This record gives sequence, structure tokens and C-alpha cells, in this order.
Amino acid sequence: MKTTINGISINYRDEGRGIPVILIHAFPMNQAMWDDQVLALAPICRVITMDLRGFGASDVPFGPYWMALMASDVRGLMADLAIERAVLVGLSMGGYVAMSFYRNFPDTVSGLVLADTRAAADNAEGRERRIASARKAERDGVESIVDEMVQVLLSQTSIDTRPDVANRVRQIALQNRPEGLAAAQRGMAARPDSTEMLAGAACPALVIVGTDDRLSPPDEARGWQERMPDSRLAMIPGAGHLSNIEQPDHFNRIVADFISTLQS
Ligand code: MLT
Repeated sequence: MKTTINGISINYRDEGRGIPVILIHAFPMNQAMWDDQVLALAPICRVITMDLRGFGASDVPFGPYWMALMASDVRGLMADLAIERAVLVGLSMGGYVAMSFYRNFPDTVSGLVLADTRAAADNAEGRERRIASARKAERDGVESIVDEMVQVLLSQTSIDTRPDVANRVRQIALQNRPEGLAAAQRGMAARPDSTEMLAGAACPALVIVGTDDRLSPPDEARGWQERMPDSRLAMIPGAGHLSNIEQPDHFNRIVADFISTLQS
């Protein structure tokens, strides 16, 4: 479905009934990465997914896409759907957007699931890598950055033994436009550090990390999760950075358990 948020067309899905749960996708993916979660969670809650600006079938306006701007798109979609409070589930870049959302609209968040993501800002080297990747996407197209990204998004085991998973990730990434990927990279490069903000977060939180996540490693996740007052950490064995795609049953079970604790 499509709606207009902040002057641009946003593509989204809205399925199931009950407590609203908004799934916010990773980079360089789009809402298709949540297909297994929509199927598993729609029987127990209202699941909303969206293509963030610049991704999938949403508009691709000029960037950079600051995390706060994408968070305001999420807030706009909530308003459009008459949702006052929601559980936010953000994976990686989706986690950065969820953190920004919580920073700006804390009273509208009933629970936070932060999966395979980082509370820290980028260091200088990380920012330079992103700007180089943005320029490469603009110059040489999406394909030029996707293949090397797939290699780090998935665990080595997934890469070696599950070509179907690698192929699915690649196909989703290729649906995106180079301008959108570049604008998101520039926005991520400028994101603030959220460690202290999360340490003061009042809402219940679940932090998820694949044991083989090379981009947001488990030890780092534990470091900021332990400072969040009402939080727990769940590790997913056999998963890399895209834990929801690599181990969907495990991912869905822990998210469903978390949602049921919020309902009781
Ligand atoms: C993602 O999966 O969203 C990206 O790896 C995030 C990032 O580049 O920091």
C-alpha cells in the first residue's frame, strides 16, 4: 500500500490485529526482508513494515537521509494509521532509526527491539568508508556495492552452505536505487552516539544479536545493552548480521515472546 508522508510516497504493509509492531529494515535492504516475520507475527499482533525513503517502492528524494528524518517518516506513518503507541523493531540501520525515533518520540514507544545494530556513532574511518561507498553506488550502480556487502551481512556458514539465503539478500538489495543507498549512507555517517540516550531509556527493550555478526559484534551489543535499565540480550547462534533472515524461527520466537510480555 502507498501513502504520502512528509511530502513523499511511502510503501508499506499493515497486517494482523492487536498491539502495533513496526519493523524497520536494514541497509541495503527494504521491507521484503521482513517477509518471514510478517507471516509469523501477524497472528499475534498488528505488524507494519515500510520501505524507508529511498528504498524499495518508496520515493527516492534528495538526501542525505538523516536518521531523524527517517524516524519522522515512521512517526508520520503511525499518525496516518492512527497508531498512538507501537513496539519498534529495528535491525541494523533500522535500529539506528528506532533509536532516533525513541530520542524524539519516547512516549509513543511501548517497547524497543534493537537487532544487530550499534549504539555508537561511526569513527572517522567508518564515516570515510560510507562516503566512499555512497560515491561508488552513485558512480557504478547498486550492483557495485551489493556483492561485497552480502559477504559481510551473512555469517560465513550461511555464505558457504546457503546460497538461497545469499541470493535472496542480493535480490532484495538490487531492488534499491543507487541514489537512495548513497543518501542513506550519508545519513548513517552523521548519526549521533546513542549510548547515553539508551542508558536512560525507560521502555522495555530486547537486544538481539547473531553470534556471528561481524558488523555489530555480540560483545559490543552486550556493552550497551547492559546499561539499558529494562532490557535483555538474546543471542542467535548460526546467524550473522541479518539474523531475521538467517535464523527466522529463532528470531520470530524471541520477538513474539517479548511482545507477549508487553501484552500481559
Ligand atoms: C545495515 O545492515 O543496516 C548496515 O550494515 C548498517 C551499517 O552500515 O551500519
